[in-house]
Amino acid sequence: MSNYHIKHLEEYFQVYRKSVRYPEVFWEEVAEEHFLWRKKWDKVLEWDFSKPEIKWFQGAKLNITENCLDKHLYIRGDKTAILFEPNDPKEEAQHITYKQLHEKVCRFANVLKSKGIQKGDRVVIYLPMIPELAVSVLACARIGAIHSVVFAGFSSTALSTRINDCQAKMVITSDGSYRGGKTIDLKGIVDEGLEECTTVENVLVAKRINSDIEMKSGRDHWLQPLLDEASSECDAEIMDAEDPLFILYTSGSTGRPKGMLHTTGGYMVYTAYTFKNVFQYKENDIYWCTADIGWITGHSYIVYGPLANGATTVMFEGVPSYPDYGRFWEIVQKHKITQFYTAPTAIRALAKENLDFVNKYDLSSLRILGTVGEPINEEAWHWYNDNIGDKKCPIVDTWWQTETGGVLISPIPFSTPTKPTYATLPMPGIQPALMDENGNEIKGNSVEGRLCIKFPWPSIARTIWGDHERYKNTYFSAFENKYFTGDGALRDEVGYYRITGRVDDVIIVSGHNLGTAPIEDSINEHPAVAESAIVGFPHDIKGNALYGYVILKETGEVRDRDNLRTEINQLITDHIGPIAKLNKIQFVPGLPKTRSGKIMRRILRKIASKDTSNLGDTSTLLNPEVVELIMKDAL
Ligand code: PRX
Repeated sequence: MSNYHIKHLEEYFQVYRKSVRYPEVFWEEVAEEHFLWRKKWDKVLEWDFSKPEIKWFQGAKLNITENCLDKHLYIRGDKTAILFEPNDPKEEAQHITYKQLHEKVCRFANVLKSKGIQKGDRVVIYLPMIPELAVSVLACARIGAIHSVVFAGFSSTALSTRINDCQAKMVITSDGSYRGGKTIDLKGIVDEGLEECTTVENVLVAKRINSDIEMKSGRDHWLQPLLDEASSECDAEIMDAEDPLFILYTSGSTGRPKGMLHTTGGYMVYTAYTFKNVFQYKENDIYWCTADIGWITGHSYIVYGPLANGATTVMFEGVPSYPDYGRFWEIVQKHKITQFYTAPTAIRALAKENLDFVNKYDLSSLRILGTVGEPINEEAWHWYNDNIGDKKCPIVDTWWQTETGGVLISPIPFSTPTKPTYATLPMPGIQPALMDENGNEIKGNSVEGRLCIKFPWPSIARTIWGDHERYKNTYFSAFENKYFTGDGALRDEVGYYRITGRVDDVIIVSGHNLGTAPIEDSINEHPAVAESAIVGFPHDIKGNALYGYVILKETGEVRDRDNLRTEINQLITDHIGPIAKLNKIQFVPGLPKTRSGKIMRRILRKIASKDTSNLGDTSTLLNPEVVELIMKDAL
């Protein structure tokens, strides 16, 4: 039996049982056999969910980049580590070997040092999907700086909020980015964001679109000349297993985004382990995850997990619709992709297009397909299975979160029989529990409840940067001694899990987590708006779309409603980004509220979903009459 590489179902059950019975022995064996440690740990695990405090491989010393780069230099130095596919198919793809990547990372790390970045400093990275993004992430890790990648579709306000929250000393960006047929002025967004920030001393600027941008003297530096000057050797900073590796922000149901802090040793072990098993990775595979490195999927399964296994990982700069809807499949054919990992929203969008876009290409290199980010509906699952996988490729529906660092529930392909819409079984080491509303665990099969995890795994986030209390309240207070995921789930008759969706005020739109409160706060800044409430409603492609109920101030003047809608969406774009724009905006005379003043979103959700046959009990409302009025004008 191999702990590290599960090859059939019986083996999965054996490994799983061992991982639950002797978790420390199990993870110690995995860690010992497959990674480079400068010093081994004194203790495998120490944990207390009531504080919460979680420490894996305490006392161990390592650098994650030695595991992702140096380790491979002699065995596969000339193998492609990163295969970069540009936005424009006419531009040549770049094959960056492990040797070249190692050198690039060392040079970049030396540039960071030369600009005063030291172990523990925070560096915000705001870059498109170009090789510099992966290189800068690894360069931070090389010297022990804490990277915080901000998705380059976020607005300047969202960027400055994150920079200020983690008190970043440096920002790494580019002169712009390509997105399909458009270019985006990233540097302009950074300049605007930095007007609100005082901690950033230097901005490094990569050249991508060759646009003529303003460089602020003393603060902004072109990256390339600095790299050219820098030495190509840089010793790795020796880190403690529990030293921070990165901060990645995710939306909460209320308040500011949460800076989830991931640490070094456990994160490395878990992402590498799950990459190997979930994608049944083999040496000559060409693996492609279409996510952006600005999300956790990109951190764990474009950069760290694949590189720790010595894999070839594809980085795609573009979008699925450019130059046409066949782009994904063209790339699969061109690079002979073996594992393809994407989001249900992309599958739904592509499934709407003509099948010729798929059939034109030879997809026979594919062995495994994956999805992540939101529940996949049955129709999309079958389209993916039939047309992309030719019914031969198992689909791994991987359930996990920014907070979990790696995949927690997923089939192991060729071992776990798949079932449409089910994430199926927990990974080794993961102990799920379904809870009822009174805090009791629901045992047995064919049941539904709130999804918790009972025991720590190596890549669980350790805290929210600067706000441990919030970490405790959000994840460890709803159910005693358990990590609460915020998701609902059901367990079928054989013990397979199906994630049913969020049970809090987070809405997943096109696979992106959006909290209702920050969107409402942006809307309420409009001078004509008195109050607002956002809910999600089902959408063919996005999974969920946003429906806003807005109460206007009584100013006497009747404004053009369509103009107002545009202005409201512009405010949201400015504060958060275009991904949070509302699909529908209804102006309402009031919002249904409980006697304690809480908005009854349940009712608003039903109206938005056109499911008003049973609104439930409205008698406890402070203002039941408003429900009728809202329903009358519903969009
Ligand atoms: O609701 C779940 C949904 O996405 C949430 C986590 O979002 P985020 O932190 O942005 O990470 C996404 C990428 C790992 C979860 O709480 N989710 C993620 N994967 C699935 C899913 N819902 C259903 N099925 C999935 N496979």
